[in-house]
Amino acid sequence: MNDSVKVVEVGPRDGLQNESRSIEVDTKVELIERLIAAGVTHIEAASFVSPKWVPQMAGSAEVMRRVPQVRGVHYSALTPNLKGLEAAIEAGCEEVAVFGAASESFSQRNINCSIRESLERFGVVTDSAKAHGLRVRAYVSCALGCPYEGPVPPEKVAEVALLLHEMGCCEIALGDTIGRGNPKSTRAMLEACLKRIPAARLAGHYHDTYGMAIANIAASLDMGLRTFDSSVAGLGGCPYAAGASGNVATEDVVYLLHGMGYSTGIDLPKLVEAGAFISGALGRDTSSRVARAMAASKNG
Ligand code: HMG
Ligand code: MG
Repeated sequence: MNDSVKVVEVGPRDGLQNESRSIEVDTKVELIERLIAAGVTHIEAASFVSPKWVPQMAGSAEVMRRVPQVRGVHYSALTPNLKGLEAAIEAGCEEVAVFGAASESFSQRNINCSIRESLERFGVVTDSAKAHGLRVRAYVSCALGCPYEGPVPPEKVAEVALLLHEMGCCEIALGDTIGRGNPKSTRAMLEACLKRIPAARLAGHYHDTYGMAIANIAASLDMGLRTFDSSVAGLGGCPYAAGASGNVATEDVVYLLHGMGYSTGIDLPKLVEAGAFISGALGRDTSSRVARAMAASKNG
């Protein structure tokens, strides 16, 4: 099999946005440089949101200005509104991401507006981004459950995803924000989305709170998805989803994919080094099982 999978590294944004201690821009840029050295080509590097809501992302403009410009490497940044988009354009972004939800309560808590209002806002952001020659990615959070409302109907996820797709968003990332999904619920959610949107336009964005993310990726591969978001060392969580742990670790995703015969272009040992770097900088152990197993087999 020579099937390739696109791995979108979201550690520098989703991974670090929730850290309580401030992280130097130097550290963020070095993490990104190390990810690129490991062969990572898609990196969500920044977030142009209100610093009152997410203080950790306040240095985003500087991060974007300092990241290396390397052929074949693509950066993305979150932009919830026109103010965020203007800041992203000013910082030289070529791709931005709008982020909506399939749950009203989460939408209110995360971006302070209803789903309908958010879609109106994203329409304006998307039109303006496209007029400036930028690509727009989109997220649907709470695709497999909401921290405030519990289960979320697959139809609701598909409805929001379709509106974002019709708006012209190039890729819709389906977010299991709180990691409550399992392969069965993942399949049901994807089935609803795939009736309306081609698999090539969907991405799995799974958090690993309950340890189900790798199983959910395997189920998504079976359903035809070939793009997955992940976070080196399993960094992260969402400030507006209490208890949500990090994204699935990129090391674990790459190990799964390579073992199943998919290519990613990523060098696993170098990726593990990037994970060790950021774990050291944060003063904690990696959440990647693969990184821990590789360290144990090296030392043992
Ligand atoms: P609001 O308070 O309704 O906004 O927040 P507003 O338009 O009324 O403005 C209030 C203040 O914020 C003003 O400043 C604006 O200038 C400022 P003040 O006059 O008070 O000094 N402001 C901004 N500043 C910088 N950048 C901006 C911006 N917009 C307004 N873009 C808003 C609405 C969307 C801004 C706010 O709710 C917000 O920033 N939310 C972001 C929350 C967030 O980043 N959450 C984490 C990311 S989502 C996630 O992690 C899930 C995901 O990974 C997928 C998954 O896992 O499911 C994507
Ligand atoms: Mg996330």
